[in-house]
Amino acid sequence: MRFDVMTLFPEMFAPMLASGVTRRAFEGGPVQVQLWNPRDFAEGNYRRVDDRPFGGGPGMVMLAEPLRQCLAAIRAARGPENPPAPVVLFSPVGETLGHTGVQRWASSAGAVLVCGRYEGLDQRFVDTHVDLQISLGDFVLSGGEIAAMALLDAVARLQPGVLNDEGSHQLDSFNPALDGLLDCPHYTRPEVWDGQPVPDVLLSGHHAQIERWRRDRRLAITAQRRPDLIAAARAAGALSGADEAVLTGLGKSSPTRL
Ligand SMILES: C[S@@+](CC[C@H](N)C(=O)[O-])C[C@H]1O[C@@H](n2cnc3c(N)ncnc32)[C@H](O)[C@@H]1O
Repeated sequence: MRFDVMTLFPEMFAPMLASGVTRRAFEGGPVQVQLWNPRDFAEGNYRRVDDRPFGGGPGMVMLAEPLRQCLAAIRAARGPENPPAPVVLFSPVGETLGHTGVQRWASSAGAVLVCGRYEGLDQRFVDTHVDLQISLGDFVLSGGEIAAMALLDAVARLQPGVLNDEGSHQLDSFNPALDGLLDCPHYTRPEVWDGQPVPDVLLSGHHAQIERWRRDRRLAITAQRRPDLIAAARAAGALSGADEAVLTGLGKSSPTRL
């Protein structure tokens, strides 16, 4: 899997690629990341990569030509032995990234990731070369780099052998292995902290009861915060009679802090 990242700020990526468990994926691991700066493909003494917008208005727009030259260099470097890579632009107008999308990228051959800056890219480059646009959410970042890092991190942790505990990502929120529900709360030592004890069941050593407690907590938190995920799990036939009984009971009991 190979990701080529086009960014005016390649230095932003170094700490991310070298930190935490995910570095195993990046440092000689299954997720190869190459950084490319469009400025290296810009002309003139100032290596200009932006200009004022036609029609007036605030801000600057990224020039199409350095982006095109940079993309051509990436395509040449990837070589014919690599499958043609889709060109992904991070943008607020894109489709919002979710777990399903991350899973798809995690089992893909990679992509060219384009990080915008300023007011964005000259639309003619987008129309000619971008295959799809991805948004991190309904807010505006200063650049696509943090969005690219979010995608790379999420993809890296799904690779086999990257997390310390193999398969632990399957216990995370949104994972189909847990029917797409949100995660349950977690506790560690001490048993009583600031006057608050750990739930008894977690100290019981009774595996089946612990699993039922965790499932109940997942159901309760998801019902409260993301009822759409409960509806999706139900539609997929993933909720048992015991699950439905828990959900019915939630409406009757007094609200708990989740
Ligand atoms: C200041 S933003 C441009 C915002 C653009 N004028 C708009 O209003 O949609 C600069 C760059 O940050 C990136 N960016 C900003 N918000 C983003 C988001 N929510 N998701 C992904 N990328 C984003 C994009 O690459 C964008 O080209």
